[in-house]
Amino acid sequence: MKDAFGTPQSLLILGGTSEIALATARRLIARRTRTVWLAGRPSPDLERAAAHLRGLGAETHTVAFDALAPDSHETILGKIFAEGDIDMVLVAFGMLGDQAHDERDPVAAVRVAQTNYTGAVSAGLVCARALQAQGHGSLVVLSSVAAERARRSNFIYGSAKAGLDAFTQGLGDALHGTGVHVMVVRPGFVRTSMTAGRPETSLATTPEAVATAIELGLRRRSETVWVPGALRLVMAALRHVPRPLFRRLPL
Ligand SMILES: NC(=O)c1ccc[n+]([C@@H]2O[C@H](COP(=O)([O-])OP(=O)(O)OC[C@H]3O[C@@H](n4cnc5c(N)ncnc54)[C@H](OP(=O)(O)O)[C@@H]3O)[C@@H](O)[C@H]2O)c1
Repeated sequence: MKDAFGTPQSLLILGGTSEIALATARRLIARRTRTVWLAGRPSPDLERAAAHLRGLGAETHTVAFDALAPDSHETILGKIFAEGDIDMVLVAFGMLGDQAHDERDPVAAVRVAQTNYTGAVSAGLVCARALQAQGHGSLVVLSSVAAERARRSNFIYGSAKAGLDAFTQGLGDALHGTGVHVMVVRPGFVRTSMTAGRPETSLATTPEAVATAIELGLRRRSETVWVPGALRLVMAALRHVPRPLFRRLPL
């Protein structure tokens, strides 16, 4: 169960090597989290991440999980929930893709869409049902500022995140009143391996800042969290910029 500050005792991360997710896990372990499940594609990085969290004092397990294999989600995630209550699920898997390349390679583009969107639809539904059966817990989903308005420079990723974002909002409404809390997190540019080598946009931030915002969102039971918070106002304005002008903005 969570404590009075909303800190989970048990945490399940889907996308177990995500730098944002691991920064969040470190922060929550420093508070109260004692058990962590890292679900992800098997790799030395996944095992290293687990060893690191164990070193911080959390009992940490790794589980093979592939967002692109939705048929397996029910079984894999079901086994985790069968081990005991999960207070927080963090959906952190995702891929940016290479927009210029993917526009010429539709199969690669579909992989971006499936990883970011449909993978989260199946995993999200399975986790939502399990959380509802428990009667408590938070489902936290890493969307993106890119979900807010499709941009020329990354509309394949952005459109998948838009689908994910809308899905998560709807799921939050579906679970309202059940005791389960659903939170959409919309970071801007975060300095992680996903964005390494890409030009930074303004208001660039860190995985630690996203972790801090997630912790605060848990405490407040927020439905939407922007990181940094100023992006909420920036995007409220950008959303209404006419397309002929929006197209010319260096975004
Ligand atoms: N960095 C940013 O600027 C930024 C901004 C907004 C939102 N986000 C979102 O935040 C989330 C975490 O990103 P991050 O910055 O922490 O990047 P990251 O460190 O590159 O993490 C991405 C994660 O996705 C996992 N993944 C990719 N494809 C997968 C698949 N088919 N099955 C299972 N896992 C898969 C990766 O696992 P492997 O180790 O197996 O590759 C990795 O754990 C993503 O959803 C991303 O879209 C990031």
